Amino acid sequence: WVRLVTAQTPTNIAVIKYWGKRDETLILPVNDSISVTLDPEHLCTTTTVAVSPSFDQDRMWLNGKEISLSGGRYQNCLREIRARACDVEDEEKGIKIARKDWEKLHIHIASYNNFPTAAGLASSAAGFACLVFALAKLMNAKEENSQLSAIARQGSGSACRSLFGGFVKWIMGKTEDGSDSLAVQLVDEKHWDDLVIIIAVVSSRQKETSSTTGMRDTVETSLLLQHRAQEIVPKRIVEMEEAIKSRDFASFAQLTCADSNQFHAVCLDTRPPIFYMNDTSHRIISCVEKWNRSEGTPQVAYTFDAGPNAVLIARDRKAATQLLQKLLFYFPPQPDTDLNSYVIGDKSI
Ligand code: DP6
Repeated sequence: WVRLVTAQTPTNIAVIKYWGKRDETLILPVNDSISVTLDPEHLCTTTTVAVSPSFDQDRMWLNGKEISLSGGRYQNCLREIRARACDVEDEEKGIKIARKDWEKLHIHIASYNNFPTAAGLASSAAGFACLVFALAKLMNAKEENSQLSAIARQGSGSACRSLFGGFVKWIMGKTEDGSDSLAVQLVDEKHWDDLVIIIAVVSSRQKETSSTTGMRDTVETSLLLQHRAQEIVPKRIVEMEEAIKSRDFASFAQLTCADSNQFHAVCLDTRPPIFYMNDTSHRIISCVEKWNRSEGTPQVAYTFDAGPNAVLIARDRKAATQLLQKLLFYFPPQPDTDLNSYVIGDKSI
């Protein structure tokens, strides 16, 4: 027999960034962060997990290609879910698995991203969230999503925020074992459904410095990071929660842009400096800033992760349409420029 479970998880985009770990193994951050989860139909991971007595080892395929499961991050997630596995009884298929059997049984995992993994569009966030969720269902683990988020966190920090839709906060937590470092939903996906998210793929090349290495160097060398984590972010988190709850787009946009810019400033303050944005990213920022100023009130917020691609959050559909017109005018998608495609996340949250 084979028991199969399939799950689908969207990626999330941080509006208050996570950058820097206080514990690298457990993946515990130096500050809280807040993100918005995208619509599953646009940027998501679909993962099928299977168990059968005929499997002789744990195996995983990513986008059809077998990958090694020996990395600590996969092992941590598998171990944590196995420890919470319960009895499974599927009368229809005649499957009966006792809690203690899970230690001996092996798992096969097949995972697909519906967007290019190499484009640096937060694929690890959707990937680990989906893996942990699917494994929990397969093994009948009874944990709530917040509890599962603390396990997904051990795969990739940002993954813990993809267990919920809408706006999500990752609470950094205080304990050494990381048990209180988990995600909570601030508002669901219906709360602010005027927002439209547009992702301008500036470059589909893989980023040069991974988030993991980049944040390690930052923690070791940047003084600005300490100021950011201790003084700036705690205040911004409170203000951002307020802006989201009251759907105050002007404050939301101001905080989102400021936090993205500070994250990249911290990267520049790292030794050796990390450059994630390129000239096209900078031109997009100038274009949005100019437009927002000329309108008197912000129409669009921008945010950039560990790469040059722009995530643009428009206040409503009208602003999104105008933004697209501007992007197509100023950054025409042609083969001889490096801005070659747009991924549009309509009704994204
Ligand atoms: C810039 O979650 O990819 O996207 O925990 O080492 O796997 P690891 O890092 P990762 O870092 C994401 C960094 C970011 C900001 C964010 O998503 O909050």
